[in-house]
Amino acid sequence: MMQEEALSSLSSPALLVDLDKVKRNAHRMMERCDKLGVKLRPHMKTHKTLECADIMTGGSRRCIVVSTLAEASFYADNGFDDILYAYCLPFDKVERCAALSERLELFQVLLDHPQALEQLRKRPLSDGRQWHVWMKLDCSNGRAGVLYSNPEALKLAKAIAETDGVELNGVYVHCGNSYNCRGVEEIQAVAKETTSLTLQFMEKLKALGITCKSSIGSTPSCSHPVEDMAQLSEVHPGNYTFYGAVTLLSDVQQSVIGSCSLDDVAVRVLTRVIGHCPHRNQLLIDCGWAGLSLDGAGKLPTGYAMIEGHPNLKLSAMTQEHGKVEPISGLLDYSKYPLGTMMTLIPYHSCATAVMHSEYYVFSDGRLQGKWKPTRGW
Ligand SMILES: Cc1ncc(COP(=O)(O)O)c(C=O)c1O
Repeated sequence: MMQEEALSSLSSPALLVDLDKVKRNAHRMMERCDKLGVKLRPHMKTHKTLECADIMTGGSRRCIVVSTLAEASFYADNGFDDILYAYCLPFDKVERCAALSERLELFQVLLDHPQALEQLRKRPLSDGRQWHVWMKLDCSNGRAGVLYSNPEALKLAKAIAETDGVELNGVYVHCGNSYNCRGVEEIQAVAKETTSLTLQFMEKLKALGITCKSSIGSTPSCSHPVEDMAQLSEVHPGNYTFYGAVTLLSDVQQSVIGSCSLDDVAVRVLTRVIGHCPHRNQLLIDCGWAGLSLDGAGKLPTGYAMIEGHPNLKLSAMTQEHGKVEPISGLLDYSKYPLGTMMTLIPYHSCATAVMHSEYYVFSDGRLQGKWKPTRGW
């Protein structure tokens, strides 16, 4: 619980981070991976801050995943290394990737198409350095990657391994389809299927004389890992620190799908009542989609978020800076919500909400400790 006095000093909407929950979530994931015997390469995309990166890496500043080059540069500038840019190589960014590869001990890129490999071949690195490449494989997960069953997948892996100036570091699979699950059993079925298809692919590579690492992930699958995941080299979850705000800071979405409990969700959005609309049985709050994002539309019975301590209220609609709140049933008692009343929203998806804010207010033991400044851009 954040102290009311500390909250009242903040201008809304504001992103609030519960540091104690972030740390708890991070430690649980580290322990889980240690127990399983698999290396944790945490993803930075949820928070994009130095402070949280230090918590997730235990201060090592090594072995991270990023989703933008802005993140990669930000972390590189601050002494991080062994960075995997896990986004299929955008051709407009090859030069920036080359600069990072020439500057860091280990900067790794991702690709899923021979044309991307050709881009790397055409831009040899200085000082005899190698491009470090992960191949993105789609194990029926439904986004980027060469489909595991497509013969082109093995062909591409072989081509990466055989191209001068390029090294095949690993095979990267992201089971984002675990977000469609409801409950631990369904999450584990996706984790098992993805792990098994990945390991089968690694066996086929081995038969061709190619050995490299393997990594799968997502917060839901790594929050409830299956035993077979121990045979992978790495896992790469990120949301767990906020859980919704970290998969060790869990969010409402995570809690809905069963990867964490609501108590693990480590982020809130502070908002205030700014209008009474009795003709519509609604309140207006000062948080619209610019403070929360539209992610999760229609997926919660309470609308776009949960309003902490008000289970009968629903955030039913938003425009850029306004939110419309109405009761799930009955008429609003406006005397309970004078203008200026503070509310805290538990966001549906912490990654989508955090990225709407240029600073985060960090609380520990209910008290405001300071601010974190995330990096932004591409
Ligand atoms: C490529 C990739 N790797 C890892 C992750 C981390 O997964 P999660 O957000 O479930 O922790 C994401 C999340 O979107 C991703 O896109």
